[in-house]
Amino acid sequence: MGFSHMLQLFLLLTSCFSLGFSIDTLRLNQSIRDSDLLVSNGQNFKFGFFGPENNTHRYVGVMYNNISAMTVIWTANRDSPLNDSNGTVEISSDGNLVILDGQMGVVWSSNLSSSVANSSVRLLDTGNLVLQDNSDGRIVCTNERNMLTSWRSPNDPSPGNFTASIEPLQVPQLFIRNGSNPYWRSGPWNGQIFIGIPGMEVYLYQNGFYLVNDNPETAYLTFSYVNISVLTYLALNSSGNFQQKLLSDRNGDWEVMWSSMQNECDVYGKCGSFGSCNARDNPICTCLPGFEPKNIDEWNAANWSNGCTRRAPLQSERNDSLGEIDGFLELNRVKLPDNTRWSLTLEADCGSQCLNSSSCIAYAFYTGIGCMLWNESLIDVQKFSSGGADLYIRLAYSELDKKRNWTAIIATTVVLGFITISVCTFFCLKWYRGTYHFKLHSFA
Ligand SMILES: *[C@@H]1O[C@H](CO)[C@@H](O)[C@H](O)[C@H]1NC(C)=O
Ligand SMILES: *[C@@H]1O[C@H](CO)[C@@H](O)[C@H](O)[C@H]1NC(C)=O
Ligand SMILES: *[C@@H]1O[C@H](CO)[C@@H](O)[C@H](O)[C@H]1NC(C)=O
Ligand SMILES: *[C@@H]1O[C@H](CO)[C@@H](O)[C@H](O)[C@H]1NC(C)=O
Ligand SMILES: *[C@@H]1O[C@H](CO)[C@@H](O)[C@H](O)[C@H]1NC(C)=O
Ligand SMILES: *[C@@H]1O[C@H](CO)[C@@H](O)[C@H](O)[C@H]1NC(C)=O
Ligand SMILES: *[C@@H]1O[C@H](CO)[C@@H](O)[C@H](O)[C@H]1NC(C)=O
Ligand SMILES: *[C@@H]1O[C@H](CO)[C@@H](O)[C@H](O)[C@H]1NC(C)=O
Ligand SMILES: *[C@@H]1O[C@H](CO)[C@@H](O)[C@H](O)[C@H]1NC(C)=O
Ligand SMILES: *[C@@H]1O[C@H](CO)[C@@H](O)[C@H](O)[C@H]1NC(C)=O
Ligand SMILES: *[C@@H]1O[C@H](CO)[C@@H](O)[C@H](O)[C@H]1NC(C)=O
Ligand SMILES: *[C@@H]1O[C@H](CO)[C@@H](O)[C@H](O)[C@H]1NC(C)=O
Repeated sequence: MGFSHMLQLFLLLTSCFSLGFSIDTLRLNQSIRDSDLLVSNGQNFKFGFFGPENNTHRYVGVMYNNISAMTVIWTANRDSPLNDSNGTVEISSDGNLVILDGQMGVVWSSNLSSSVANSSVRLLDTGNLVLQDNSDGRIVCTNERNMLTSWRSPNDPSPGNFTASIEPLQVPQLFIRNGSNPYWRSGPWNGQIFIGIPGMEVYLYQNGFYLVNDNPETAYLTFSYVNISVLTYLALNSSGNFQQKLLSDRNGDWEVMWSSMQNECDVYGKCGSFGSCNARDNPICTCLPGFEPKNIDEWNAANWSNGCTRRAPLQSERNDSLGEIDGFLELNRVKLPDNTRWSLTLEADCGSQCLNSSSCIAYAFYTGIGCMLWNESLIDVQKFSSGGADLYIRLAYSELDKKRNWTAIIATTVVLGFITISVCTFFCLKWYRGTYHFKLHSFA
């Protein structure tokens, strides 16, 4: 299923639900019991207690309102569930939002460091739950890093092993990690899309993704769809897949429209460093041109984790400053490798910038991003059948020489073939014409 299918999906909620009166705000000296709810004023979302299927614990969170499938979008007490239905939610005297157990013990708190004399909590129709200082209307910020953390299992909201966040490097990427290890990445953001997700550009018509990246700690991505009254959301599931789901009006349940893991090649670093993954090949992993498996037995046994190593050393590695200079080989339609460094350099100078730095091993130039350089290893390269970007990898002259030789041989063969055919055509035609004329003549 391609990303382009997402074209038919749409975030949030036009106001197709009828407006009605309900309480969307919790104030000082009020409390929410297990059976109570706050409902946002357009009725899109509700806030209160819930218990996942086959799970006896009680949690507090924000859910979609008004749809039959229970869909939790945020959980407060993931680490500290209640064991019974005697819990309450209220605003404590220092202004924090707190969850209390039946004995009035605090099981969860919003943990504001400075106390607010009179605050309230309001559930917005966007699903956002905000803590407000009533003296000046200010929304209280925790400045926590924006990150999604998977559930442990589909029935267990406690924090799982997977997280998803924007890694706001010079060239931002969306990352899914398994613990601290990268598990999937989107490739670089070009200002409109992530260029490592084939087909994502299809959606740009009328719709948009916006990356808000002014503060590295709180970078986030939003998306919007125009004029469509269908519900959709993106979530990180408990097995580490980013899924986009669309509410089906057929059965009132969510259907998966896109998932981050489309094939084995989407697993971060599948083919190791200097390897390249192509889901349509068998085996899926090959070494980049100019590289060979680090351990041929492992590689042949489809254990690609050790990756590949350079065949012919670069000029700087040979310590051969007067020798033949390195060059670049162009690879088309690839997922650009991880760990890029951005350089304020014009397209025309990007290659020479790389060549002039002895540590630079590859470069790419992409409109909307600019000049990207790589220094260490080339990891998580994938070959796409469409989309992606052009990557120029640095190789020793002798490697390019082989390629040049082959190119020359092919070119020579083609040229010689062409000459042969032309010459032959000319003479054969002459001969044929001659014969013809001769025959014609003899008949005449
Ligand atoms: C909340 O209750 C406390 C004591 O029970 C009282 O002093 C305070 O005025 C109340 N606040 C509001 C906003 O009603
Ligand atoms: C809940 O448990 C029942 C019985 O073990 C099982 O049939 C059902 O699939 C479970 N539901 C979920 C969502 O895991
Ligand atoms: C949503 O809630 C409103 C008001 O309670 C109700 O009129 C409407 O039928 C509900 N829609 C759905 C899809 O349940
Ligand atoms: C729920 O029960 C567990 C196990 O008995 C206990 O450790 C935990 O403190 C209880 N949680 C609450 C909020 O009472
Ligand atoms: C929860 O409340 C019920 C009734 O209000 C009571 O019977 C029960 O003992 C309470 N449980 C706890 C753990 O306080
Ligand atoms: C609040 O602070 C306590 C103690 O530092 C910590 O255990 C708890 O996880 C924090 N809660 C939240 C929601 O950050
Ligand atoms: C708290 O703020 C609310 C809303 O502005 C106001 O109605 C209420 O009187 C305030 N309570 C106190 C104790 O200041
Ligand atoms: C999370 O990772 C740990 C090892 O780091 C593993 O033992 C555990 O089973 C994993 N949990 C899930 C839900 O995958
Ligand atoms: C996530 O990491 C854990 C521990 O390192 C590992 O056991 C598990 O297989 C990994 N999960 C995936 C989907 O790679
Ligand atoms: C959205 O729909 C309205 C009414 O059908 C139309 O006037 C408007 O141009 C549409 N907007 C876009 C961006 O298509
Ligand atoms: C997570 O999403 C992937 C891809 O859509 C799916 O194959 C997998 O079953 C999902 N995992 C769970 C636990 O639902
Ligand atoms: C693959 O090779 C690595 C490095 O030698 C080794 O640690 C790992 O166990 C191998 N994996 C498998 C599945 O054989």
